[in-house]
Parts: sequence; C-alpha cells; structure tokens
Amino acid sequence: MLQFKPASRMSRLGTETAFAVSAECAAYAAKGNKVYPLHLGDMNIKTPQNIIDAATKAMNEGKTGYCASAGIPQLREALADDIGKARDLKYTMENIAIQPGGKPSIGKFIMSVMEEGEEVLYPTPGYPIYESQIEFHKGKAVPYGYVESKKGFKIDMEMLESMITKKTKALVYNNGQNPLGCESDDKEMKEIAKIAIDHNLFVLSDEAYFDIRYSGKSKSIASLSGMQERTVILYTFSKKFAMTGWRLGAAIGPKEIIGQFIRLNVNDESCSTHFIQYAAIEALKGDQSGHKEIVKTLKERRDVAVKLLNEIEGVRCYNPEIAFYLFPNVTSAVRRLGYKKGKEELARFRVDTLQKTGVSFTTRDHFGKRLPTEDQEYIRLAFSGINADQIEEGLGKLKKFIERK
Ligand SMILES: Cc1ncc(COP(=O)(O)O)c(C=O)c1O
Repeated sequence: MLQFKPASRMSRLGTETAFAVSAECAAYAAKGNKVYPLHLGDMNIKTPQNIIDAATKAMNEGKTGYCASAGIPQLREALADDIGKARDLKYTMENIAIQPGGKPSIGKFIMSVMEEGEEVLYPTPGYPIYESQIEFHKGKAVPYGYVESKKGFKIDMEMLESMITKKTKALVYNNGQNPLGCESDDKEMKEIAKIAIDHNLFVLSDEAYFDIRYSGKSKSIASLSGMQERTVILYTFSKKFAMTGWRLGAAIGPKEIIGQFIRLNVNDESCSTHFIQYAAIEALKGDQSGHKEIVKTLKERRDVAVKLLNEIEGVRCYNPEIAFYLFPNVTSAVRRLGYKKGKEELARFRVDTLQKTGVSFTTRDHFGKRLPTEDQEYIRLAFSGINADQIEEGLGKLKKFIERK
C-alpha cells in the first residue's frame, strides 16, 4: 500500500483559522439555528453592474483564452495611472504584475526578496498569511505588536525597532489593518519609513483596504521619500469593488522585484483570468457610483455596530475610518462572566456566545500568536457580510448575553 505522508515543508505552512469558524458557524446554521455572521471578511454586497457587464462582454468577445502572465497591458497601464494618482507616485506598467487576488502577492514577495534563514517583521495581531508564508519559505517570522491608546491601536515602535537584527530583510506593513481597523498617523508612518531606510529593509505594504474608508484620505508609505524603491504594494479589487470571489489584484513596486513576480506568475497560474481583467479596467475607469455605494453601505453598518458595542457593559470599541473590522476590548465583560485570561477561555466565550445567541465572531487568537506583553482580551467583528438590521438584532442579543446577572 502506498502510504501518503505530507512533504516536510507542509508542516511549516500556516492557515487562516477564521475559515474554521465559518465551518462551525455553517454547521450550527444547518441545524436550523439563526446565525449573525460577523466572523469572516467576505462581503454580502453585489459587484457593481457595470463591472459584471464588462466581464460578460469580454467573454462574449472571446477573451477566454490565456493572456500575458504579467496581465494585459491595458489593465497594467490603467492601474499604474490609478494607483499612482491616488498615492502621489509615478508608476508605469513595468511596475505592475497582475495577480489572482491580493493574497498571492504575500508569498511572491517573500519568495522574491527573502533568503532562507533571513528575518521578516510582521504584525500581530495581523493577517495570518504573512507568518505562514515567511515560515513556509524557511525564513524567520518576527512579530511586532500594537498598543491600545485612547484613539485606537498604535504600532509598538520600541518593540519593532528592538526586533531588528543583521538578518532582518523585510517588513510587512498593513496600514488599514486587519483585524485592528487602525492606521498610522503621519508621525508613525514616517517612523516606520525611517526604520526601513536606516536598516535597508524591503517593505510589503498591504493596502487591501486603501479605498474602503469613511472619512479622510488614505496615504501609502511608498509615497514617503526613499520608500518607493523598496516597497511593493499589495493591491486588490476584492474589497473596493466587492469582488472577493472574482480573484483579481496586483503587485506594484520596483520593476526588478516585479519581474520576479511575473516569473512566479508563469510558474503558478500562467495568467490571471483574462476576461476579468477587462472587467477590472471598467472598475477603474468606468462609473464609480457602485464603489461609492459599497462604502456608504459599509459606513451605515459601522455606525450601528460601533454604537451598539459601546453600549454593552465591559466592552470598548474604537471607530475605524478604514477597512471593515472592529476589534473591541472585551476584557472586563469576559472576566465578569468568569472567563479567565488566555486563548482557551476566550475561545470558550466565543463558542458559548455562538450557541446561546447565534452571534459569530473571531477572537484575537485567529490572528497570530499572543505576545508576552499582551494581557487584554479582544474579539474581531467583520461588518462586511451582514446587513445593518441584522447587526442591530445580533448585537442586541449579545448585549443581553453579556449583561446577564
Ligand atoms: C490584510 C489583508 N491582506 C490581503 C487580503 C487578501 O485579499 P484577497 O481576498 O484579494 O486575496 C486580505 C483579505 O481579507 C486582507 O484582509
């Protein structure tokens, strides 16, 4: 009998444990229970019609074969223009490699810049794929943390600097942060840039949520002096145009690095889906009312959710101006209910809440290992996949559950 044993490298590959919560939630719903899905950053908003029509038109016109591995030139040009304008930078199509989503840029960045044994700094709590890809490719994943301030979460700059060694090669920076919903002020961004320049680091700037914002203007670290030449921007159509399932994004950066991404494209997927790239041109250059409507809908949900969470005894939640995640501090609420410190107890609170109220969320522990300095408990709620009236109903139940005597 042929016995299968996964190759040893597979033991270094991480995952997104939030998907396990989805499966658990689906099983609970299949038993006829009502669920309030606040756990996964997917969207229940339809892609704007002009984008769907452009994809259909491209299919009907026969754009159904392979295309260039780097992406079709018209889309690369449109993106160079759009991304450049929004970030006060100059790019050409040589700086752009189209990808099947935002996520592939993470592994391709690591493969392109990091040697085995080198160190890469990444945020925790943070998007779990950074750590997974660094370790899979035999690097050392070095987490940096955040501190909760009066205005929300700030990067623990002292910790970040203290983690840098001679082996540090790159820094992953997610401004418009998942799961924290925070972003840097000018001072913090400048400090990060200075660290990158002083220590000669490459930067992956994950800007998946750059265009999902409720006030103010997004800024890219690539636009700071000395940064464009060392920064690869992760761009995705997923959130801005409610296209999570279409799988289209891009990497934007120095052409020498982007050249490596394109070589990886040839090996991994040959090309991103041809007709979807025509839809993406329409998304960038066509009528923007669909995108505006998406942000308006998300803002209504955010307003309801933040207000109601802050009305729950022992819960404190900041109001994010970017992305669609809330990361409330629930320490005093869970302690009052008898849950002790740590991962297992917070997981127990999550499961109890799902079973008693149908409200489904993830916790801090779905976003990387806790640092020794952490002593507070947090949960994450995504408001992208649930309507405002359901948020209201679900959080009403959560309030009753948490405030029970
Ligand atoms: C911070 C962050 N980066 C990257 C991605 C990946 O985006 P995509 O779905 O376009 O691959 C996500 C998706 O949730 C994300 O939250």
